[in-house]
Amino acid sequence: MAQRAALVTGASSGIGLAIADMLGQEGYALTVAARRPEKLEAAAEGLRGKGYDVQHIAGNLGDEDTINAVVAAHGERFGRLDVLVNNAGIGMGEAVDALTTKKVDLQLNTNLRSIFLFYRAAMPLLRAAGEEHHNALVINTASISGIRGEAWLGVYSATKHGVVGFTQAMNKELASAGIKSTALAPGFVDTAMTDFIKEHVPADSMIQSEDIAEGVRFLIRTSPGCVVPEIRFEQPGGGLDSLPS
Ligand SMILES: NC(=O)c1ccc[n+]([C@@H]2O[C@H](COP(=O)([O-])OP(=O)(O)OC[C@H]3O[C@@H](n4cnc5c(N)ncnc54)[C@H](OP(=O)(O)O)[C@@H]3O)[C@@H](O)[C@H]2O)c1
Repeated sequence: MAQRAALVTGASSGIGLAIADMLGQEGYALTVAARRPEKLEAAAEGLRGKGYDVQHIAGNLGDEDTINAVVAAHGERFGRLDVLVNNAGIGMGEAVDALTTKKVDLQLNTNLRSIFLFYRAAMPLLRAAGEEHHNALVINTASISGIRGEAWLGVYSATKHGVVGFTQAMNKELASAGIKSTALAPGFVDTAMTDFIKEHVPADSMIQSEDIAEGVRFLIRTSPGCVVPEIRFEQPGGGLDSLPS
């Protein structure tokens, strides 16, 4: 059995890939999951090339059966789960007058519902890790728009507020089981998700995915008696709030 193992969703690019890379550096065996198979395969190959023990599983994480299958495959391969990173997400900007129901459902299912279902599926493995070392950790990628809602990103903001709230609830519910949860709340990060705004906000002025991964490195090093409910990562000067409307 691996000494420590982690499962990272949305790990085929951006923030998830940077977190997976950092966890590999720290000696974690990894299951990485994301939607598009070719993109995930390439990312997993890159991680294996660095010497990490990596299993990859592609699928739509808005789907309950896929979530259960990913967690089951992780358990079968590695036999333990010390760190779960619920990071897969999508953002779709729309005015409230013209919300597309399909886009509403996609964001709810991917950004929020999947996190509830991942916790449920992973509870036996997380409880076992918590019992062993009192320091099992679940990281949930929220957003700065999960702290303050953003115009035209109302549905996305609502899902990310939900992530922050669920994270707080899990800290109360699972404290005695040795399972801690942290919500990550970044502003603009230089990933594919922010390509739409790079004409106005230069990529090199944004937060970098590695900054987020360093935040997670700090989290995995905290002692069992220290929980960090959320971390905000902001651009100097305000980021989203400073954009002209
Ligand atoms: N970039 C930012 O400015 C920013 C700021 C705050 C929060 N966030 C959050 O950070 C997280 C990661 O985003 P990112 O910026 O790193 O963007 P990214 O590079 O586009 O990564 C998104 C990841 O999620 C996966 N994914 C999306 N929908 C999925 C689905 N239905 N099933 C399985 N996997 C799915 C993607 O896989 P595919 O590419 O195959 O779909 C990809 O691996 C998201 O939760 C996002 O909301 C990002």
